[in-house]
Amino acid sequence: MAHITDERIPNNVNLSEDKRLQRALEQWQPNFLQWWMEMGPAGFQANQVYLRTAISVDSDGWAHYDFVKMPEYRWGIFLAEPVAERKIGFGDPIGQPVWQDVPGEHRNTLQRLIVTQGDTEPASVEQQRMLGHTCPSMYDLRNLFQVNVEEGRHLWAMVYLLQRFFGREGREEAEELLMRRSGNQDRPRILGAFNEPIDDWLSFYMFTMFTDRDGKYQLLALAESGFDPLSRTTRFMLTEEAHHMFVGETGIGRVVQRSAELTRQSENGDARELGGIDLATIQKYLNLWYSLSLDLFGSEVSTNAASFFGAGLKGRAKEDKYPDHRAVEAVYPMELPRPDGTLKPEEVPLRSAMNEVLRDGYVEDCQRGVDRWNKTLAEVGLSERLALPSRRFHRHQGVFAGLAFDPQGRLISKEEWELRRDQWLPSAADRTYVKSLQAKAITKPGEMAHWIAAPPRGVNNKPLDFVYLRAEA
Ligand SMILES: [Fe+2]
Ligand SMILES: [Fe+2]
Repeated sequence: MAHITDERIPNNVNLSEDKRLQRALEQWQPNFLQWWMEMGPAGFQANQVYLRTAISVDSDGWAHYDFVKMPEYRWGIFLAEPVAERKIGFGDPIGQPVWQDVPGEHRNTLQRLIVTQGDTEPASVEQQRMLGHTCPSMYDLRNLFQVNVEEGRHLWAMVYLLQRFFGREGREEAEELLMRRSGNQDRPRILGAFNEPIDDWLSFYMFTMFTDRDGKYQLLALAESGFDPLSRTTRFMLTEEAHHMFVGETGIGRVVQRSAELTRQSENGDARELGGIDLATIQKYLNLWYSLSLDLFGSEVSTNAASFFGAGLKGRAKEDKYPDHRAVEAVYPMELPRPDGTLKPEEVPLRSAMNEVLRDGYVEDCQRGVDRWNKTLAEVGLSERLALPSRRFHRHQGVFAGLAFDPQGRLISKEEWELRRDQWLPSAADRTYVKSLQAKAITKPGEMAHWIAAPPRGVNNKPLDFVYLRAEA
């Protein structure tokens, strides 16, 4: 059995002095590696990849770039530095010192929150495992693997919390995290979007733009938690998460740019004619991944959300910016559907609306990305624009699930939905087309697939034609 040392697992949790935790991790590590080899990136495991590794929590010196084989990546455990005398910032226990251990009455709830977050990390690696074989460039291939190893590290971060604070049950949950499989009928991952296939690069960029961004907001809410180890763990995860969203936003931006250029070049204004991805198709993928990601926030009206907030377990993103941290008397105005689907304005007690409050910040954040892509379209001289669909569109969770709305948020019949679905979401033909552009991997340094623009610069100030992947050595 591999022995776990600070050298093999960079950490700032005194791993070498915590024998019980060391033993638990020693048992778990071989199973993790086995999972990685089975369900991690298909191929490329023997290549040397230019990757960043978290080696500390200093804001300027936390990341180290070097060539490493993925199975030898140093998955580490890092908590952001403790805030001295930190107090709980919201809910009923507001003002009390934060908890360094799990309060008995919140044990089950906290464990559930951590398991649900933890489950998304390996799920995304599983979803993306075949993408290496169709990459649009070596730069993108390297970014995919960077995202994958860091999701692996986020799994370690959640497993640390489970093993350190939740006893035998926590250790069992840590094993379960390696046993569920994205998209598997019998043992699926916990949340819907994490069971969807990501088998082309447009989906990958959409996922890292929209679904990783849900992750950002969940992590921001958990970073407020009164359970201090959870707060500190998620705060550090956010630093890595920023890169995943960068990959998504700039990836889509590059597809949009190329699409716009080809649209201009084509006599019929059709990017597909010249081997690009047309804007209509990009919009459909956006509609799909945005709506799947909105579902991850949970129901608009939620007693769970109310109790998480009331108990001081899960706050709002950047809780500091709100004037009232108890949220006992305030209400949140919402339009909720009547049984016939028509909307009626209602006032929901604020604590019950916390999922929607978190979703508000997310929607704004997504809009900023869309605005940047639209700027590109304007610069190339096109009048078409991309847009986020209504929050009611294509929902499977919450009060709008089971009803049909068009992208503008107008209630429509199920029949109309069926008729027009392929105008709004990727059709089988769209998927086939996108995949046809990505039939093989482009891995010559500096070369780009035809359907995507080159990024303005390489990784970590390296040139774009830097050899980010080396043959095994
Ligand atoms: Fe993550
Ligand atoms: Fe991520």
